[in-house]
Amino acid sequence: MAHPAQSITPTGAHDYLAPVFAQYPLDVVRAEGVWLIARDGRRVLDLYGGHAVAALGYGHPEWTRAVAEQAASCNFQSNAVPMDVRLRAGRRIVEFSKLPITSVFLINSGAEANENALKMAFAVTGGRSEVVALEQSFHGRTAGAGALTWGAREKWYGFPRTPFDVKFIARDSTAGFSQITDRTAAVFVEPVQGVGGAFDLGREFLVALRKRCDEVGAVLVFDEVQCGTGRCGQPYAANLYGVLPDMITAAKALGNGFPVGALLMTERIAKAVKMDALGTTFGAGPMACAAIEATLDAIENDGLLANVRRVTDYIRKECTVGPVVGYQGEGFLTGLKLKVPAKDVQNALLTQHDILTGTSGDPNVLRLLPPYILREGQVDLLVAALKKLG
Ligand SMILES: Cc1ncc(COP(=O)(O)O)c(C=O)c1O
Repeated sequence: MAHPAQSITPTGAHDYLAPVFAQYPLDVVRAEGVWLIARDGRRVLDLYGGHAVAALGYGHPEWTRAVAEQAASCNFQSNAVPMDVRLRAGRRIVEFSKLPITSVFLINSGAEANENALKMAFAVTGGRSEVVALEQSFHGRTAGAGALTWGAREKWYGFPRTPFDVKFIARDSTAGFSQITDRTAAVFVEPVQGVGGAFDLGREFLVALRKRCDEVGAVLVFDEVQCGTGRCGQPYAANLYGVLPDMITAAKALGNGFPVGALLMTERIAKAVKMDALGTTFGAGPMACAAIEATLDAIENDGLLANVRRVTDYIRKECTVGPVVGYQGEGFLTGLKLKVPAKDVQNALLTQHDILTGTSGDPNVLRLLPPYILREGQVDLLVAALKKLG
């Protein structure tokens, strides 16, 4: 008999994991390409990609080989020991971005990237203590990143107070820009909000935001943990919108499943980095670096940015059927707008049609975060299922 606080896993074994996640009725034992294979043999089309992580899908041969070879040759040394693979990963991130990034700090997750971006923003704006974030934002669950996350304090923040003052402004109007002042150290935005419902802020908003930050000397940070590293069909949303922030934070797709995070800095920020100001044990470990290098190589060598753009057009053209009334978002961070609750459609797609999708903070948006290798023929399976859901 299981202890009341424990649940039973589908295999019948006791589950000692803290019960903090609601789980899908899906017991994955293997995965290949865009397919998850369940214990009972069911093949499930993965249009959710493990919360936007599995950029290359599953079992990509070059990524698998690179990680395995690095594990065999030297699985870990910290930043205190110079390693070629680390230098290559840093250079690769900068080259892939096609942006004037001059320095990269590697850590292990999206929240950690944002914590370090906050530190650097306070460092370059000495004395300022306010940060501006957007309504419906999500930036992570640590003390700083959680403080910037819309609704966190009411729902799960868990710390007695936030480490700095935060102002939240609307995401669909520039009216709130008056809150960005010479007390503002940084403005954090996801150019395409993820948890907020695959909501694209658009070029006009971001251009105006850049201008406002310049007027008051605030640092502009693009949190591209979810929308970046190719997901929008460009290296970063910064490229897509033609707006250069002072820092970009990346994670998720960057390691294709190996935990990584990166803080990309332009010169203004990079020149303020001092010895010992930032640190990490695991960040930039050789296996993480091998994973990053292999992921970015594959995105380029396999033509995946073009694939994302082409298949996004196809999704937009074909998927407005059944319960879908429209779409929002960019690239493979697409939100299908529904006339019924998204959780009902998500559940029906998974249990009746073997298609895994995501929901979001918007109850009527179904969030698609598929691997960048998704093809039109696989989108057809979603279209057929949506039609049946009428
Ligand atoms: C935009 C954004 N920023 C930050 C995070 C936090 O990343 P992590 O869970 O790797 O800490 C997430 C995670 O969903 C995210 O979507």
